[in-house]
Amino acid sequence: MSFTLPELPYAYDALQPYMSKETLEYHHDKHHAAYVNTGNNLMKGTEFEGKSVEEVVKGTYGKNQPLFNNAGQHYNHLHFWKWMKPNGGGALPGALEKKIIEDLGSVEKMKEDFVQAGVGQFGSGWAWLAVKDGKITIMKTPNGENPLVHGAQPILGCDVWEHSYYIDYRNRRPDYLKAFLDDLVNWDYVAEMYASASR
Ligand SMILES: [Fe+2]
Repeated sequence: MSFTLPELPYAYDALQPYMSKETLEYHHDKHHAAYVNTGNNLMKGTEFEGKSVEEVVKGTYGKNQPLFNNAGQHYNHLHFWKWMKPNGGGALPGALEKKIIEDLGSVEKMKEDFVQAGVGQFGSGWAWLAVKDGKITIMKTPNGENPLVHGAQPILGCDVWEHSYYIDYRNRRPDYLKAFLDDLVNWDYVAEMYASASR
């Protein structure tokens, strides 16, 4: 099984005005496609051919940096497209909201800390909600890294590479993170990932 670039689950202009058609065209058709193609080339003839993307990510961490970078970014983007939807944001599904309040104080506090994690990630990387040891926690990682290699299961991630926001927000990364949480997140998909992480 090699990596495959999925179709976006919505039209390229469906996330406007929060994320433009131009951003999605570059981000999906150029950046994600490059991770898929480079990952497949680097995987050829290695023990990772035929493994799932999760297995490739975990197996290459600290051992095969070029393949790890591309496999990590493939995993991250596969979910990133599904973590957003047109008319996103809004209320959280009940069970997820309850758990967030329990582990992180309140939904508002979670959002503040998530934005802070994304702003505080120096250079390229990701901000996360992840399940670790049965608790929802906020994390940040550099480059293509993700919570899978830190003993945690990601349930929401926001791409803070400049390619994700510079066309629409220029250098205003905090505004992009706020718009992501308030107007783009598909909380149903986050709840789905939370449910499978807690199984
Ligand atoms: Fe990206």
